[in-house]
Amino acid sequence: MSDSIRNIVILTGAGISAESGIDTFRDGGGLWEKHRVEDVATPEGFARDPALVQRFYDARREAVQKVEPNAAHRALAKLDAEWEGDLLIVTQNVDDLHERAGAKRVLHMHGELLSALCASCEQRHKWSEPLVGNPACPGCGAEALRPDVVWFGEMPYEMDRIYDRLRRADLFVSIGTSGAVYPAAGFVRDAREFGAHTLELNLQRSEGSYWFDETRKGRASDLVPEWVAEILG
Ligand code: OAD
Repeated sequence: MSDSIRNIVILTGAGISAESGIDTFRDGGGLWEKHRVEDVATPEGFARDPALVQRFYDARREAVQKVEPNAAHRALAKLDAEWEGDLLIVTQNVDDLHERAGAKRVLHMHGELLSALCASCEQRHKWSEPLVGNPACPGCGAEALRPDVVWFGEMPYEMDRIYDRLRRADLFVSIGTSGAVYPAAGFVRDAREFGAHTLELNLQRSEGSYWFDETRKGRASDLVPEWVAEILG
C-alpha cells in the first residue's frame, strides 16, 4: 500500500455483518426474498400498513441485539483506532456492530435500527424496544415514532459530509455490498473521478465491480483483517 495514502473512505454493506448472523438483502434467502420492498421499506408502505412495518423493524431490532461483531468489524475498529489520517466508515447497515466493535468514525447513511425518529417533532431517540403499539415520543409525547431508517424514496443521511470525504479520499474501499442501491453504489465512480485508488472486498464481484481498480473475493472476516494488517504495515 502506498505511503501517499492519508485519507480513507470505507463503504460497508450487509455482507460485513453476514457472518455475525444478520441476513443480507439480495443473497439467496435474503430479506428481499421474504419481504416486498414496497411493503416494508417505503413511506407509502408505512402509510398503508404501519403495524406491518413496525413489526418488521421490531423483529430486526430485537435480532440485532442478540448478535456480536465479527473479525471484520473488529479489524475496522483497529484501523479506526490506529490510523492517523482521515478515515470515515460509511455504512449502509442499520445495525450497530461497527460501534460495538469499537469503531468511532462511523456514519450511518441508511439510519439505525436502535434509533427512533419522531414524525411530529423530528427528534431522534435511542431506542431498543418495539415500536408497534405506538409508544409516546420521549421528547414531545406524540405517538408518532417511526424507525430511524432511510426508506426507498427518501434521502440518505449526511450526503454532503460523505461527498466532502470522497472528494479528498486517496483510497476508497467497499466491503460486503452488492452495489445495487444508489447513491452508495455510485461512490466508487465519484472516488475514482476525484483521484482515489479503489478496492473492493466482497464474496463475489458486485454490480459495479468494473469500476474498482482492484477486487479481492472472499469472506469479510478473512479479507478485512488481512487488508487492515497490510495498510497498518
Ligand atoms: P446486499 O444484500 O444487496 O449485498 C450483500 C453483498 O455482500 C453481496 O454482494 C454478497 O455477495 C456479499 N456478502 C455476503 N456475505 C459476505 C461475506 N461473508 N463476506 C463478504 N461479502 C459478503 O446488501 P447491501 O449491498 O448492503 O437499503 O444492500 C444495500 C442496501 O439495499 C441496504 O442498505 C438496504 C437494501 O435495500 C435500504 O433499505 C435503504
